Amino acid sequence: MSHRTTPTAAADAPHGDNRSTNGSDTMRLDDHRVVITAAGRDFGRTLAIRFADLGAEVYLSARGLEAAERVVAEIRDRGHERVHAFACDLTDPASIRDFASGVARHTDRVDLLINNGSRWLEGPDLLSATDTDVIDTITSGATGTVLTVKNFLPLLLNSDRPDIVTMVSACGTAGHHRSDAHDAFYTAKSAQAGFAEILSKRLRPQGVRVISLYPPDFDNADPLSEEWDTTPRGSQDALTSHSLVDCVLFAVGQPRDCFIKAFHFEQV
Ligand SMILES: NC(=O)c1ccc[n+]([C@@H]2O[C@H](COP(=O)([O-])OP(=O)(O)OC[C@H]3O[C@@H](n4cnc5c(N)ncnc54)[C@H](OP(=O)(O)O)[C@@H]3O)[C@@H](O)[C@H]2O)c1
Repeated sequence: MSHRTTPTAAADAPHGDNRSTNGSDTMRLDDHRVVITAAGRDFGRTLAIRFADLGAEVYLSARGLEAAERVVAEIRDRGHERVHAFACDLTDPASIRDFASGVARHTDRVDLLINNGSRWLEGPDLLSATDTDVIDTITSGATGTVLTVKNFLPLLLNSDRPDIVTMVSACGTAGHHRSDAHDAFYTAKSAQAGFAEILSKRLRPQGVRVISLYPPDFDNADPLSEEWDTTPRGSQDALTSHSLVDCVLFAVGQPRDCFIKAFHFEQV
């Protein structure tokens, strides 16, 4: 996928909307309020760092507050003050409610919710996981995503450009079988996919775009490391987190008539 360049998009955008579609390097997200789940490490942390670098105010959660605060400190070290840490265990409805009400004490609107959190569970043998692992995997990915959207929807509806992005997985695509993920992970991702599908239709009349990504395993380089820019991104290479961030920025950077529902990727 290549980035479309629409130099007039920012000028045509509604008041206060200074996004452009020029690609992630020149795009600015000042005045954009972004909520990200599971941002204590890996791709959630990457999203938080990149969105903050582009000027967004970031409300990030991790299962443990300490992990969230570590990422906030990393972002503040880069000179961005408008970043906030929260604890949110996606298997715990009260914790999700507390996250949303905590964010609501800072802001009356959220422009972008990124459902990044979901527990990974490996093992193609159904018998290899405990009942607790199965429950935790399905609850964090499936129930956790539904309850996160439910609790943040009032804040999203206060935005004039609300977007919900969900990091699903190729495992959420019908017929997919190439991952070593446990059946419970496939179940969680299929639930996220089904939720996103109906949500997209039902929220469109209210102007909420529901954007889902279905990546295969990707190269998760640290955005603060040299690898972020040096990891090969050629046609023979595995998908990178850098390209996935660009996909998210591309989708949210489009004019409001453009409802990109899903990103699917050909595997190497
Ligand atoms: N990496 C890939 O190749 C790949 C491919 C396709 C899709 N995805 C999806 O993309 C998203 C991000 O991927 P990733 O590689 O960064 O995932 P990851 O390395 O497996 O990390 C999972 C994240 O989910 C959090 N988490 C797990 N259970 C949680 C719970 N109960 N409450 C709150 N947070 C919880 C973890 O927090 P803790 O630090 O507390 O454990 C961690 O931040 C996930 O939804 C993943 O399924 C990833």
